[in-house]
Amino acid sequence: MDATNTGAKAAKLTVGDKSWDLPIHPGTIGPDVVDIAKLYGQTGMFTYDPGFTSTASCESKITYIDGDEGVLLYRGYPIEQLAENGDFLETCYLLLYGELPTAAQKADFDYSVTRHTMVHEQMTRFFQGFRRDAHPMAIMVASVGALSAFYHDSTDISDPQQRLIASIRMIAKMPTLAAMAYKYSIGQPFVYPKNDLDYTSNFLRMCFAVPCEDYKVSPVLSKAMDKIFILHADHEQNASTSTVRLAGSSGANPFACIAAGIACLWGPAHGGANEAALKMLSEIGHVDRIPEFINRAKDKNDPFRLMGFGHRVYKNYDPRAKIMQRTCHEVLAELGIKDDPLLDVAVELERIALSDDYFVEKKLYPNIDFYSGITLKAMGFPTTMFTVLFALARTVGWIGQWKEMIEDPSQRIGRPRQLYTGATQRDYTAMSKRR
Ligand code: SDX
Repeated sequence: MDATNTGAKAAKLTVGDKSWDLPIHPGTIGPDVVDIAKLYGQTGMFTYDPGFTSTASCESKITYIDGDEGVLLYRGYPIEQLAENGDFLETCYLLLYGELPTAAQKADFDYSVTRHTMVHEQMTRFFQGFRRDAHPMAIMVASVGALSAFYHDSTDISDPQQRLIASIRMIAKMPTLAAMAYKYSIGQPFVYPKNDLDYTSNFLRMCFAVPCEDYKVSPVLSKAMDKIFILHADHEQNASTSTVRLAGSSGANPFACIAAGIACLWGPAHGGANEAALKMLSEIGHVDRIPEFINRAKDKNDPFRLMGFGHRVYKNYDPRAKIMQRTCHEVLAELGIKDDPLLDVAVELERIALSDDYFVEKKLYPNIDFYSGITLKAMGFPTTMFTVLFALARTVGWIGQWKEMIEDPSQRIGRPRQLYTGATQRDYTAMSKRR
């Protein structure tokens, strides 16, 4: 479908013998929108769009996806160029402030983030309450929400300065909490951040260093991890970002809103797909079993889906998946992994699926989660950490969208309506009269 820029100023809705003009607003790129904000007041009717397949929930200037062309822009810059030329903190600055930083602005931003990477020492006691086999995503939902307890008294969201500090704190502390969740799950001591390391090298060291020996971060793996963070940073109004916006619309503090976003991201249809995709590739096990799973994915009576395939918006190849596939090969080469059976299965599964009529007709292509699992597993992360890494990277997108919503003068508390098809009014029946 072509992105519609109709040029029309209004749409006409006719119901019976009545008509109403609904304003049309054009975007800079992408589909126009029909403004239905006054529809209920004018017509007494609601619109109906479960899953919001045709509904714009807000106006935003941050990220744009052209699903038909497989294009992803952060503040107008193509994801391929940002991943190739910059680092994750540059992307964070761009998403938060709308422009690429000058050298001085970048240095100042890096300095500020670096000096907020430590968490309150009491957080280490908070972790002791979890079982060692707790899923790291459960720990992340809890510990990020718990940051409200440490900073709630200084998070006046009506104060731009405090919103900025909360944003920097969130971006800075997510790697530390993510590394703590990993260390806790493998019974190793927490590793503190080091201010002389860049953001992503600091994270890898907090994950993989041990007190008994020095740990040298591989520049190739750090660059690959940094690129993976850039690919996952933001993605318009996806389920978890919409969750953060809705939570934030009530005035909840940013830490509680990000915790809500982490909870939503955990689902296998969303950010949990990278963990599910790797489990699927392991279950398939060998290229000979691929046809069996392709048939299951096409069987309406079988709930099985090809994890890492399909997307609500992309009806072409997810541009992030292409970069992810290249990064996967770079990481495997750096680690000297010549032939990874899971990669063999993934490449053959993609080849077969992309030539199968079912997937072609439904425009199902690999998405970002298809190759990320193989890469992260090769880097040494357990599958339970995959969605934690997604949440770490997406935090800047959540915070940027939350900030845009708070600063939007037209924003109000989100409160959707419904199509009610339940019981009509009836009187209470005494217990003695119930059958
Ligand atoms: C992410 O929104 C975002 O931007 C998300 C994300 C981000 O960066 O925030 O990009 C990250 O969540 C990527 C998606 C990760 N999820 C998966 O890989 C899980 C597998 N994919 C599907 O569950 C599904 O494709 C979704 C959830 C991603 C999209 O679901 P939609 O848009 O609601 O599409 P749908 O379920 O209505 O599917 C349309 C048709 C259906 O068949 P029909 O009912 O029309 O006959 O395609 C079929 C589906 O059965 N289909 C699949 C399929 N995905 C869709 N069939 C087999 N395997 C699949 N993966």
